Amino acid sequence: MKFLRIAVAALFAFAFGNAYAFHSGGVAECEGCHSMHNSFDGQPNVTGRTFANGTGPYLLKANDQSGACLNCHQAADTAPSSYHISTAGITPYDSTSPVEATPGGDFAWLKKTMNVVIRKNTALDGNPGERHGHNVIAADFGYVADSTLAYAPGGVYPASALACSSCHDPHGKYRRDASGNISTAGLPIWNSGSYNSSADPIAGTSAVGAYRILGGIGYQPKSLTGSYAFTRTVPAAVVNSTYNRSEASTQTPIAYGADMSEWCANCHTGMLQQSYTSGMAGLRHPAGNGANLTAEIANNYNAWVRTGVMTNVTASAAFSTLAPFEQGHRDYAVLKAAAASATAMPAASTNGQVACISCHRAHASGFESSLRFFYLNEFMTVADTANGNVAIYDSSTTENKINYGYSPAQQQAAYNYRPATVFGPWARSYCNKCHAKD
Ligand code: HEC
Ligand code: HEC
Ligand code: HEC
Ligand code: HEC
Ligand code: HEC
Ligand code: HEC
Repeated sequence: MKFLRIAVAALFAFAFGNAYAFHSGGVAECEGCHSMHNSFDGQPNVTGRTFANGTGPYLLKANDQSGACLNCHQAADTAPSSYHISTAGITPYDSTSPVEATPGGDFAWLKKTMNVVIRKNTALDGNPGERHGHNVIAADFGYVADSTLAYAPGGVYPASALACSSCHDPHGKYRRDASGNISTAGLPIWNSGSYNSSADPIAGTSAVGAYRILGGIGYQPKSLTGSYAFTRTVPAAVVNSTYNRSEASTQTPIAYGADMSEWCANCHTGMLQQSYTSGMAGLRHPAGNGANLTAEIANNYNAWVRTGVMTNVTASAAFSTLAPFEQGHRDYAVLKAAAASATAMPAASTNGQVACISCHRAHASGFESSLRFFYLNEFMTVADTANGNVAIYDSSTTENKINYGYSPAQQQAAYNYRPATVFGPWARSYCNKCHAKD
């Protein structure tokens, strides 16, 4: 990997004069992912040499699609670092934890299978790594397909074909023009469309990339045979340009606008629940355009600080990235302003809507079902002594029913480094941010 990182740094320095640009919102230079002859400086692209591994299909510089991304997007970091979304060197039972803290989450949580017995009488029931998110297949990096879920629940997308390029268009063709239209052709993409600091598209001149170069309507990788083309457009969202960072003292600013749940439903078709009627049988939890917060829920959201503390009076302190809502519009000027600082994110109102990402991370998390918070016990934290009032993360090595095998440091990492004191002692589920049932 050392060779790789040097090679990549050199590539950027020479090719772009900017150490951080690669995709620039659209298709990056072909050579970043493809090798025309499986040859570099007269040597094949093999382990220990320039790029991590051999040449896979489509002349890729790895043995599969996701590997071609992880060549750059995985690193042996010890703290959150820029565009990295996979920590190298994580093994199931080691004492470390994945370190990246992006909104999407660190895929290395998929490698954290903790050997705990909680309720069932089997050796390993509590905390299987593959339940922590989307099991992308990357043979060169130790990621394998989900062994339990063969298809996207609620839909038919096969887990055996799940790669970074299932969701992200590696050629970044989806673009947004000045009037907000999304297309795959037309004006050239001149910038990322993801950040508060991104340039705006210019009418008649240029477009910007879709949020996170995600695939939109009609997207289906060539390698996937069958009919799986996306029918829903890319989500409208903006994130702060410093998006991989500890949230121990301030949150990472992000503004989800609309269409995220619809986008997830490209694969999880049956889970979309845009309109919801309280008490009606057979529904899913509301998530989607039109799944608005009720007045009662918006009030709970804005007042709730933590279990037992409903005293927040500061609108700019209401938003939580552990239970974010969509703002319910696609106005990029408003989204960019909200993603500019931790106190610019809006308080909840009945314009806000529940989305899949209100509860889930898009990649992976430390918790089951890629949730943003722990949900398998009534408590998220414990107290320093039986009747103490200082919150700590659970360090039990006998019961594990709150920590699920994670050390206190690992639990803290799973909350993007928030200390337990943010939640208070004996904190109940974060569902209460909206529901205040505690
Ligand atoms: C960020 C990585 C990345 C970059 C940069 C990239 N590609 Fe690709 N390319 C891929 C991946 C991954 C696939 C396999 C997609 C699939 O599974 O069908 C692919 C597949 C292809 C294919 C065959 C499948 C198809 O969709 O037609 C062609 C042709 C291709 N790329 C050309 C290019 C060219 C030309 C460039 C530069 C202008 C380029 N690529 C830049 C990652 C990349
Ligand atoms: C040669 C190194 C390299 C490779 C290979 C690479 N990336 Fe990136 N990626 C970067 C860098 C550097 C950034 C941050 C700068 C930028 O966005 O241009 C980035 C940013 C991104 C972003 C955020 C872009 C935005 O505008 O919001 C996404 C999403 C992403 N990469 C996905 C992928 C996927 C998927 C693949 C594989 C198909 C891939 N990358 C392959 C280096 C790489
Ligand atoms: C199931 C769909 C899906 C898959 C698979 C996926 N991504 Fe993402 N990715 C997303 C979404 C959605 C976001 C935006 C998350 C947000 O802002 O909350 C994102 C965000 C990102 C970002 C920005 C940082 C972050 O985490 O927010 C990068 C970089 C990235 N993805 C790269 C990758 C790479 C590399 C892979 C494969 C190893 C991959 N993604 C696989 C959907 C996916
Ligand atoms: C390209 C198709 C695709 C898209 C888009 C997609 N998913 Fe998935 N998802 C899958 C597949 C396939 C599985 C089953 C395999 C697995 O869990 O690794 C899955 C599994 C899941 C799981 C269960 C994870 C577990 O281990 O229990 C959750 C939760 C989930 N997806 C949420 C989301 C959310 C939220 C989004 C939108 C941000 C999304 N998905 C977008 C294909 C997709
Ligand atoms: C971002 C806010 C938000 C979060 C977080 C959230 N919910 Fe909800 N929930 C809602 C809204 C809005 C409704 C619809 C209420 C209505 O229409 O009366 C709802 C409805 C429900 C209902 C059905 C209520 C009824 O009257 O039919 C249940 C049960 C529920 N949520 C449980 C949960 C659980 C469990 C969690 C945590 C995993 C959770 N919710 C997290 C906003 C949220
Ligand atoms: C209110 C919070 C909340 C929202 C909103 C939400 N989920 Fe979930 N989801 C959960 C929880 C909690 C679980 C795990 C336990 C359960 O199913 O009750 C889960 C489980 C899942 C699973 C795994 C199901 C399985 O069979 O293993 C998938 C897939 C999933 N969610 C996708 C989605 C998608 C897609 C959306 C948006 C359309 C969404 N979720 C919206 C809280 C939520």
